[in-house]
Amino acid sequence: MRLRSARWLGGDDEVALSHRVALRLTEADRDRPVIGIADTSSALNPCNASLAELVADVEQGIRDGGGVPARFPVMSLGEDLMKPSAMLYRNLVAMELEETIRANPLDGVVFLANCDKSVPAALLAAASADVASLLLIGGSRAAPLFEGKPLGAGTDLWRALDERRSGAMNDRRWEHLERSLRCAGPGACNTMGTASSMAVVTELLGMSVPGSSGVPTGSPQLRRIAHQTGALVVRQALDGRTPTQRMTQAAWDNAVRALAAIGGSTNAVIHLAAVAGRTGLYGDLMRMDRLWRDVPLLVDVEPCGAQLVAAFAAAGGVPALARALGALLDGDAVAGDGRSWARLAAEAPEVSAVIRGPHDPVSAAPTLAAVFGTLAPDGAVIKVAAASPALLRHRGRAVVFDDYDTMRVRLDDEAAGITADDVIIIRGCGPRGTPGMPEWGMAPIPKRLLGQGVRDMLRVSDGRMSGTSFGTVVLHVAPESAAGGALGRVRDGDLIDFDLARRRLDVLVDPAELASRPVPPPAASVHLRGWPRLYRDHVQQAPQGADLDFLTAPTPASRRFVEP
Ligand code: FES
Ligand code: MG
Repeated sequence: MRLRSARWLGGDDEVALSHRVALRLTEADRDRPVIGIADTSSALNPCNASLAELVADVEQGIRDGGGVPARFPVMSLGEDLMKPSAMLYRNLVAMELEETIRANPLDGVVFLANCDKSVPAALLAAASADVASLLLIGGSRAAPLFEGKPLGAGTDLWRALDERRSGAMNDRRWEHLERSLRCAGPGACNTMGTASSMAVVTELLGMSVPGSSGVPTGSPQLRRIAHQTGALVVRQALDGRTPTQRMTQAAWDNAVRALAAIGGSTNAVIHLAAVAGRTGLYGDLMRMDRLWRDVPLLVDVEPCGAQLVAAFAAAGGVPALARALGALLDGDAVAGDGRSWARLAAEAPEVSAVIRGPHDPVSAAPTLAAVFGTLAPDGAVIKVAAASPALLRHRGRAVVFDDYDTMRVRLDDEAAGITADDVIIIRGCGPRGTPGMPEWGMAPIPKRLLGQGVRDMLRVSDGRMSGTSFGTVVLHVAPESAAGGALGRVRDGDLIDFDLARRRLDVLVDPAELASRPVPPPAASVHLRGWPRLYRDHVQQAPQGADLDFLTAPTPASRRFVEP
């Protein structure tokens, strides 16, 4: 078949000649597929920094497969440093990748990714550009020790924060914790946070080598996977195989179910909705909730379980999970190496203590749920497996915060009189609100209540929370308050009613009164220009994946990637 790159590189005129010279193509390289390596390694992103070490293996895999490698740098999205949130830039990087592919003679791409948003950015670009491609995900980091115990990234820091705020952790132990965390190796969070969840999702979407999720960063196994990824993408380019042939409804449904089985990140819910939006698949919250109803927690990894991600990989990773899920997965969906999930599951290790079977789960279904009601007409999401069972049917008074800084001060103000039964509401942190939907949803428990032993309260917001977080936290309320949602009309003292069994989230205020309350005018944005301005003007709500309206594909025709 004729390669895409032939439009640049084929022929004997001066233009083709200069294109070949630019790529330093030798005679032997002529007619070979050109495979880009999208390199997101960066010193500003510790989770992705070690990806640079895998480039040589990917290049060798591409050469061994009969292709020509072409590495190019990409903006790196790291959770640790980016404000207000790396999420603000997910769509920008998806565009950067898509436009780099559009403009250049690439027949395929290996996307190097690891930290939370770098993975979905690559998935969205792959879905839209639809040239041969796979992601190479950089693995999970080794756990540093703190007081003799391995530290789970994120999760154990949030636990320590509660201890510190309750007075149980002094400054010396807090500083010791910082030194321990500094000793962590490179790689992604070693808990089932967003990065690990997205690695699992990517694998089930057929967009990475099966068995690659959670493999330790720096391991020889990961180097072999890097080589294999390069070779596989050359094969795909030669065979004319593209991502959307694998990212089918069956694969998407499988990814949604697997997310529940791992007790995965609520952020992945937004990314999966965005993938559906790019590919024209059914991907609404109602569908997700239906898919989640009979999937228990099968994987015993923090924050919902006890182990770290390396244990999941050692127990057989996603193929073993596919085996454990059995009939809950559609075995006809195809993995990144072209094999069916039915075949991979048949060859995978049997269930173990870390990857359990549905009859011996870590906890019962559901682990994730979507709720709807007068407070969230278009839906909201909760990670049930990380919540307190006693709060899953709860009614309490709203305590409303309009921004994060006020919340951090007022929460601990004794005069605010917050009780354990109150419902903490944080708004103005949806996709448009801040903008970029920061991870403010898991508000800390007020100090006074921590001192009384309270460790969880019902919290509701239009923001997100880290995949490594836990608690009874309802997130992604849509429409968000900055888009005129009912959340913006709630006042201190209103009764909030949450009923997971009925999938309801309501504010018990007379509908006519609620409607008559003035919607607080959205705070005047300081973002009058540049990317934040473009983002605010075009971002959709969480159930639509917080993608930009002009990047989604409402019709099959509009999904078409137009060649330059
Ligand atoms: Fe990058 Fe967790 S902060 S993977
Ligand atoms: Mg995270």
